[in-house]
Amino acid sequence: MLRRKVIAVGITGGIAAYKVAELVSRLTKKGYEVHVIMTASAQKFITPLTFRTLSGNPVITDMFDPSPLWNVQHVSLAEKADAFVVVPATANIIGKIANGLADDMLSTTVMAAQCPVVLAPAMNVHMWENPVVQSNIKKLEELGYRLVDPGVGRLACGTEGKGRLADIDCIEQALISLLEKPKDFFGKKVLVTAGPTREAIDPVRYLTNHSTGKMGYEIARAAKERGAEVFLVSGPTNLADPEGVIVERVVSAREMFRAVSDKYEQVDIVIKAAAVADYRPKQTSAEKIKKADGEMSLTLERNPDILWELGRKKDHQLLVGFAAETGNLIEFAQNKMERKNLDMIVANNVSEEGAGFGGVTNKVTILNRYGELKELPQMTKYDTAHAILDQIRLLADTNKS
Ligand code: PMT
Repeated sequence: MLRRKVIAVGITGGIAAYKVAELVSRLTKKGYEVHVIMTASAQKFITPLTFRTLSGNPVITDMFDPSPLWNVQHVSLAEKADAFVVVPATANIIGKIANGLADDMLSTTVMAAQCPVVLAPAMNVHMWENPVVQSNIKKLEELGYRLVDPGVGRLACGTEGKGRLADIDCIEQALISLLEKPKDFFGKKVLVTAGPTREAIDPVRYLTNHSTGKMGYEIARAAKERGAEVFLVSGPTNLADPEGVIVERVVSAREMFRAVSDKYEQVDIVIKAAAVADYRPKQTSAEKIKKADGEMSLTLERNPDILWELGRKKDHQLLVGFAAETGNLIEFAQNKMERKNLDMIVANNVSEEGAGFGGVTNKVTILNRYGELKELPQMTKYDTAHAILDQIRLLADTNKS
């Protein structure tokens, strides 16, 4: 018998808490096993009885419940949940999760969760805009938490602006698309590169670029979710290893080249999102270079073009590159695709707001070797990753037919 997927719903103390009844009802009717955890403040807005009735399961409210079920509730829910949603997520719970605080049943269970966590914030517009809240949100997104952005409108406190809980439809959709990903990469081995490289000048200085690794990590995560066996070769980043992905950390372009070359023969698909330094200092000083009067010049030499080398040796692999451009996006990307013998290239204009380096969104145009072009809207890097995989799937199917 197929196991029912488990959704943990964490409710915190905001006026939008009453809207969660509709979400729990819909998810339960769709056949998911839903378990609700409520904070003490949430219970001031709506009673646990409502959720017990709608979900058909006891509602977890007390950190120190003496019942023998306590261990089952706390530990096993964190382990068995396939998805976790915190809705509404107040500034308080966002701050706690972002800073590793676990002082009640909800924050403790989120901390122990082994599954993707979705946050649906709702709060006053000024709280939402507060740099501390924004910095917590940014940190959580970088750590892989999914955010369902709040909507704009009239808020319960009488002000207008961003902070309303997103539509229940959007939250439900975010959860379902997370849980019901097609396993269309099952049986495939996918190699992803991510992040910058560092080219040492001396023991304390290096040349690098602005890549955070987010785009590549989201591709690795998405490919894993869709059933692939995923290898990630990563330059230096602050990101946590995506769940279930085999990660090899490297520093320089030459190390990345070696790591990628070692895996190349055994993989079916390569996606090169890393921002590899084209040049390195010709000489790396073993000692810290002392400053002196006047100018100093640095002689650089070319690094291997990893993607070009892979294109040259390509036999069975499907090869996908990225193009980071600041102008003539399509022309330059097309050119790179041909020169490096790629099957597909993902072009992003890195000077455009919301695209390219850093941040949690990207805006890309995907070109393939059949001359097809797909322009995608600005989306989170996670959604962009899935859209890239959709295009790879289509291309692989075209190759077969
Ligand atoms: O990491 P994030 O902060 O999320 O930012 C994402 C990103 C902007 C880094 C990503 O979306 C992106 O554009 N990655 C490619 C960056 C890049 O180096 O572009 P390029 O146009 O210089 O290189 C073209 C392709 O050749 C890339 O696939 C690159 O990995 C590859 N290359 C480049 C140089 C080199 N020596 N070896 C390579 O393999």
